[in-house]
Amino acid sequence: MAQKELENLGRRHILLGVTGSIAAYKAALLCRLLVTAGAEVKVVMTPLAKQFITPLTMATLSKNPILVDFFNPENGEWNSHVKLGVWADCMLIAPATANTLAKMVSGIADNLLLTSYLSARCPVVVAPAMDLDMYAHPATQQNLATLLKRGVHVAEPGEGELASGLSGKGRMAEPEEIARFVDDLLSEKKKSLEGKHFVVTAGATIEPIDPVRFISNHSSGKMGYALATELARRGARVSLVSGRTALECPRGVDRIDVLSAEEMYRAAVEAFATADGAIMCAAVADYTPKQVADRKLKKGDGELNIELKRTRDIAAELGAHKNGRLLVGFALETHDEELHAEAKLQKKNFDFIVLNSLRDAGAGFRGDTNKVSLIDRTGREDLPLMTKSEVAGRIIDKLETFL
Ligand code: CTP
Repeated sequence: MAQKELENLGRRHILLGVTGSIAAYKAALLCRLLVTAGAEVKVVMTPLAKQFITPLTMATLSKNPILVDFFNPENGEWNSHVKLGVWADCMLIAPATANTLAKMVSGIADNLLLTSYLSARCPVVVAPAMDLDMYAHPATQQNLATLLKRGVHVAEPGEGELASGLSGKGRMAEPEEIARFVDDLLSEKKKSLEGKHFVVTAGATIEPIDPVRFISNHSSGKMGYALATELARRGARVSLVSGRTALECPRGVDRIDVLSAEEMYRAAVEAFATADGAIMCAAVADYTPKQVADRKLKKGDGELNIELKRTRDIAAELGAHKNGRLLVGFALETHDEELHAEAKLQKKNFDFIVLNSLRDAGAGFRGDTNKVSLIDRTGREDLPLMTKSEVAGRIIDKLETFL
């Protein structure tokens, strides 16, 4: 990773807590990244963590002796968790096992890592690592929600192959991601949207034909969810008005589930009443069946025509009642892209519009990447192909310039 990406760690005190998970081996790389970025790192390990990675490795990489016990049995020297808690600018527990998360919630203090956590006055980050069923268990989910409510930051685990051989969510986030997470947390930028409220529309609407069929589109919701995640990360309150997607609600985001364009219209208008702005990322149906059959339509021999009527344009409605608030739109086009995007920018009263061209490889629906251009009244900026979360970061950077 390019060193300039971690620019807020210099001389910061990081207390790295390592618990007994197979992902403890990744703590070595994480420690090295933090130290290389200029942080001073002290490592506190649970007794079980020592079985997964040796104190010698962690001591060498952190350039500090490892802390495991409350005192040194050889000479009685006391490892003061209170001092450690005060020393740290950030306590980072990576990997954090289900057991440690549960103890943090209950205030159990049976090892030095936990007593340090209870004494810490600084931001605390946990990077959960466990098997998919342990992670999905209501107990673990509830514990994470409680910690989050108490202000603990969660570096979300990724999906993928787990040590058990199963595949799913629970794999500790990669060391680079965790280091960046801590770097962001310690940067000035981190709470730039504190006190602001944004509405994000995301996903596809569903227009029912009869009780079993509907008209919809290919939107996965990934771009809108990435935007909601980024806004929340920068401290904003987020109302995510979400059509159909298979995605989990990002932590710290208030999701309002809707199905049809009409439901999305009502929810978005209501949420916008108290908002500072909105990002219109949903793929909203422009037409809906004029009549919804209350019983399943049975097939006949001939053709079937379904009469469609126009839906209401949510973005245009918010644009018409903007009153100086911010409005960001999206345009997904297949031809005459810039022309159409500029027309939408004017017509819907957007501050800027994010143009996706389906002609660009890696852009648009379903994938994890996107290639967009940001167009406002003064010009156009073409961004390279990036992950959707990187694109979200750039869009929110631009949004902040309008505040
Ligand atoms: N949009 C909306 N409500 C609608 C239709 C669109 O809020 N009923 C928003 C989208 O979320 C997007 C922008 O308007 O931010 C442009 O959407 P798009 O579907 O590209 O444009 P349309 O106005 O529907 O034009 P067309 O389908 O003819 O391209």
